[in-house]
Amino acid sequence: MSSYSIVYDRWRTDPEGFWMDAAQDVDWITPPTIALDTTNTPFYRWFADATCNTCWNAVDRHVEAGNGDQAAIIHDSPITGTQHTLSYRDVQEQTARLGGALQNLGVEKGDRVLIYMPMIAEAAIAMLACARIGAVHSVVFGGFASNELAVRIDDCTPKAVITASCGLEPNRTIPYMPLLNGAIEMASHKPAACIVKQREQLTADLTQGRDHDWDAVVPGAQKAPCVEVGGADPLYILYTSGTTGKPKGVIRANGGHLVALNWTMKHIYNIEPGDVFWAASDVGWVVGHSYIVYAPLIAGCTTIMFEGKPVGTPDAGTFWRVISDHDVKALFTAPTAIRAIRQVDPEGDFIGKYDLSCFHTLFLAGERADPATVEWAAEKLNVPVIDHWWQTETGWTIAGNPSGIELLDVPIGSAGVAMPGYDIRILDEGGNEVENGTLGAIAVKLPLPPASLPTLWGADDRFLSSYLATFPGYYETGDAGMKDENGFLKIMARTDDVINVAAHRLSTGEMEEALARHPDVAECAVIGVTDALKGQAPVGLICLKGGTNRPHGEITAECVLRIRETIGPVAAFKKVGVVARLPKTRSGKILRATMVSIADDTPWNMPATIDDPAVLDEITITLKELGYASKA
Ligand code: COA
Ligand code: AMP
Repeated sequence: MSSYSIVYDRWRTDPEGFWMDAAQDVDWITPPTIALDTTNTPFYRWFADATCNTCWNAVDRHVEAGNGDQAAIIHDSPITGTQHTLSYRDVQEQTARLGGALQNLGVEKGDRVLIYMPMIAEAAIAMLACARIGAVHSVVFGGFASNELAVRIDDCTPKAVITASCGLEPNRTIPYMPLLNGAIEMASHKPAACIVKQREQLTADLTQGRDHDWDAVVPGAQKAPCVEVGGADPLYILYTSGTTGKPKGVIRANGGHLVALNWTMKHIYNIEPGDVFWAASDVGWVVGHSYIVYAPLIAGCTTIMFEGKPVGTPDAGTFWRVISDHDVKALFTAPTAIRAIRQVDPEGDFIGKYDLSCFHTLFLAGERADPATVEWAAEKLNVPVIDHWWQTETGWTIAGNPSGIELLDVPIGSAGVAMPGYDIRILDEGGNEVENGTLGAIAVKLPLPPASLPTLWGADDRFLSSYLATFPGYYETGDAGMKDENGFLKIMARTDDVINVAAHRLSTGEMEEALARHPDVAECAVIGVTDALKGQAPVGLICLKGGTNRPHGEITAECVLRIRETIGPVAAFKKVGVVARLPKTRSGKILRATMVSIADDTPWNMPATIDDPAVLDEITITLKELGYASKA
């Protein structure tokens, strides 16, 4: 029996005992007496009778253990040309002071704090400070526009906001205050206070009475101690795209998150305390929450916060420079980042310029890892390249290659095997398990493991209808896939309106809602087409209202701007065409999948239920004009 099988079987035979053992490796104020509370199923709660503090586990306990001088966070910004390191003692001091400043502004245990920050160390400090005082943070990615911020402000009703004066993209400086002010103006809920970190690249005008300069209120604040919270109390809310315009507020609870994330660092990533771990993502995404901030710090490692891009800041060698400069043992990034590097440096010449002897493993997630990219990286870097599959909802790996237990020989194109905690089944539409090699919906048998979402913020019914209704007794992942003859899992596609653009999870339904609000648009569809760099790209098709005689170019340009201004530049919505009609079934359902196949030049069959097949001729012509359907 392989080491992995032994560990997985140990979990299967005694799931609660397995997680109670893992719980020994974190500090509790009151240790758990039971692992899983099942009194209100299907709302499962892990470590509900325990108390703890996540910031204590991520910061203070390492200082107490004598590791206060160890580097906790290295900020590396090729955009500003700066690097600086915060030790665990520095992080303890800064989180305690910021926690005190938040308390001075009236923030108490259970209150929400919205964090809208670029990739600077203060973003991690802000998250940890909330955890320290028992406040619930909700980080919003910097590439989202005011409207997205406003929706989140109204949903989680934060008492305070922590932000910075600007974010830095390679080609421009993004002023954050106008975006935040716009959002607060739009929202019905008004946060009482904002703490603003002024950056030297662009300072912000502060609103008297509401805004406070970080450097004025934080350094002199009293140091807040770590507040005792319940194991099932929320640590944070992270919004993610669903099928509608309203994002889902995924809740992460303190106790289960501590236990599961701590377990993953050794067993999945093969990382020991003191090692340097780098997740090249953004704190606005789940990868940033779990693997830039919490897991590496909980495990006593050094984490890297990188403010830059894989290419162009300044070149396609920047990742290898960071690995070499900071002794990075494992890098976790999205396949799109590797594709971007490969496009610019196909021979991998930059790799040879750096001493990468410290580097052991490359982990990929966030979107499908295409075999060509995996093979290129494995050959050029000469380290194992591990694909693993997970979601905002789970917070950590559902399927992967447990390199700290045993490096399995996973075939390229597979995301690996189920991690302990996950009983993965491939189901047909009727909820029956399919044979290996057959495509189906990927579901996970309940209960989900520690750290997975217990419910959605303020939306128990939506939690049930979105995830638990289709297959009773299972969590519906929203992904389709199959197991091969040896049980290795392949993730094929989403089963809903979610698309993955440069590993950013976006909702085409949300884009359609925004386009439909354009005064000249009668009807629209947004589809995710294949993109060589970003994996997928959104393409819009709009039908105009009768009597609209404005030039089409003007209207489509307004549509592009509308998505940029309502959802944000990160949607990368650049292409939209005008058509007379959209293809539909006789019952009126838009045939999005057929349009995707036409755009991608993949084989498709005329849907039997199509209302008027002739509509597809115009769609094909329009997609060709937009640069797709080249073989049609
Ligand atoms: N704040 C403001 N704007 C942002 C932003 C932020 N934090 N992040 C991205 N944007 C903007 C970009 O400037 C760009 O704007 P533009 O349309 O004016 O050029 C747009 O959003 C799209 O950004 P991005 O997806 O980063 O594309 P890109 O063309 O700038 O770079 C890649 C392409 C492949 C290099 C880039 O997508 C990348 O690094 N991907 C890795 C993704 C990743 O790590 N995802 C995390 C999930 S694990
Ligand atoms: P997010 O919640 O933003 O992390 O996005 C989760 C979604 O990204 C999943 O449901 C998948 O559709 C996709 N995804 C994440 N990791 C992988 C992977 N390794 N292979 C294929 N798809 C992935």
